[in-house]
Amino acid sequence: AKITFITQDNISVVVEGQSGSLMALAVENGIKGIDGDCGGVCSCATCHVHVQADQMQLAGEASEIEKDMLELDDNVSEFSRLCCQIEISDALDGIVLTVAN
Ligand code: FES
Repeated sequence: AKITFITQDNISVVVEGQSGSLMALAVENGIKGIDGDCGGVCSCATCHVHVQADQMQLAGEASEIEKDMLELDDNVSEFSRLCCQIEISDALDGIVLTVAN
C-alpha cells in the first residue's frame, strides 16, 4: 500500500509498505517525528498521527488502551491514532497521515 506521511515540517513523504505496522514503516523510512520509542506496544505515544477526517474508516477506531495512551499526549483529536497500532494492508492504500507535534 502507498502511505503518505506529512511531517512536522509540512513535507509529504510517500512510502510503500506491505505488512507490519505503520510505525515500523515510518521508522524504517526515517519519517521525522515518528520515534516508536516503545517498539510498538502502545505505551509511548511517539508514533502519534492524525488521520484525514474522510479516511478514518480506513484506519479504524483506536482501541481503549490506545485511547488512554493518546489522552496523555498533546494535540490529541478525534482523528488521532498511534500508528504502531495500525497494520499495513492493501486497504490502507492512499492513506494520508499527519505526524502529530
Ligand atoms: Fe510506542 Fe506506538 S510506538 S505507542
